[in-house]
Amino acid sequence: MAGYSKSKAQLNTGAEIPLIGFGTWQDKDQQADAVFECLKSGYRHIDTARVYGTEKGVAEAIERSNVPRGDIFLTTKLWNNSHHPDDVEKACDESLGFLRTDYLDLYLMHWPSPFKRGDKLRPTKDDKILTGDSDFVDTYKAMEKLVDSGKVKAIGISNFSRAELERLLKETSVVPAVHQMELHPYLAQHDFVDFHKTKGIHITQYSPFGNSNQVYTKGQDISKLIDDPVLVDIGKKYGKNGAQVALAWGIAHGRSVIPKSKTPSRIKANFEGDFKLEAEDVKKIDSLDKKLRFNDPSSSFGWNFYSDLDGKAS
Ligand SMILES: NC(=O)c1ccc[n+]([C@@H]2O[C@H](COP(=O)([O-])OP(=O)(O)OC[C@H]3O[C@@H](n4cnc5c(N)ncnc54)[C@H](OP(=O)(O)O)[C@@H]3O)[C@@H](O)[C@H]2O)c1
Repeated sequence: MAGYSKSKAQLNTGAEIPLIGFGTWQDKDQQADAVFECLKSGYRHIDTARVYGTEKGVAEAIERSNVPRGDIFLTTKLWNNSHHPDDVEKACDESLGFLRTDYLDLYLMHWPSPFKRGDKLRPTKDDKILTGDSDFVDTYKAMEKLVDSGKVKAIGISNFSRAELERLLKETSVVPAVHQMELHPYLAQHDFVDFHKTKGIHITQYSPFGNSNQVYTKGQDISKLIDDPVLVDIGKKYGKNGAQVALAWGIAHGRSVIPKSKTPSRIKANFEGDFKLEAEDVKKIDSLDKKLRFNDPSSSFGWNFYSDLDGKAS
């Protein structure tokens, strides 16, 4: 990451991860241009996933940008149809192929929940997802082998509950480098965050703008997090907008944030969300927590996610 001067953290592997990253879920056909724009703006951390269908677009943008591969922190994720331990390496190889690279900086288990094995990303019967029977501990052990082979520099998880994470830590040998989870000022998860600190697990905040993602049906009836008067007001002091303040809050806590945008002006502006907030402002934002979780596919995935975490609808 030669010459990168923005905020970074060190993972438990010793590698560095930029705190401001770029999300690529949705608007699949616009992602090659969006990622090109993000690299031009200075981002060096890109988040994709097999299921987003955006790995090819990311590869195209990286090639077009002429930014050396070694200067980019690249994350992708293992999808739920490939949880069987015998399928994990093949899935990783496919992602490497789409991304036209020979290694990943980070490979995450996207969800703890398996789907039925096979080529279909969303295997269904009568419109219902067919679940699988692989245990996420076995899936993770297969991911550990990818580190040994050099295909993957670090492994981690996404969307685990505390009990699921505790079991993983007990029964496997590589502590996840990163846990990617929904986290923003309306879902601050202070206790869960502290637990990660004690284990040396870096947190990446997804949906850092909370209810701005329009696929989230929950949260459309309240005003947008990025318009929250406290964020907007704090922003005035620094010449920043509410979105930038939301990002700076995560960064102040040493976490990565991965805002998504297909809009060039927003892509540029969000990169400037990596700025230093004063401690009193961080504290004010800490107290905005409403325990509001917008992403919970439990009913469609056939798995009760987040059962012991804040924001679980009762
Ligand atoms: N691990 C997981 O299960 C998981 C789940 C969800 C997300 N993620 C990752 O996290 C990334 C980010 O999360 P997300 O996509 O859910 O939501 P997000 O980044 O919080 O919000 C994206 C939405 O905000 C809009 N936006 C972006 N910048 C803005 C700005 N400065 N002002 C106003 N609106 C702005 C975007 O619109 P435009 O694009 O139209 O500009 C888009 O509609 C994803 O892309 C993905 O990489 C991971």
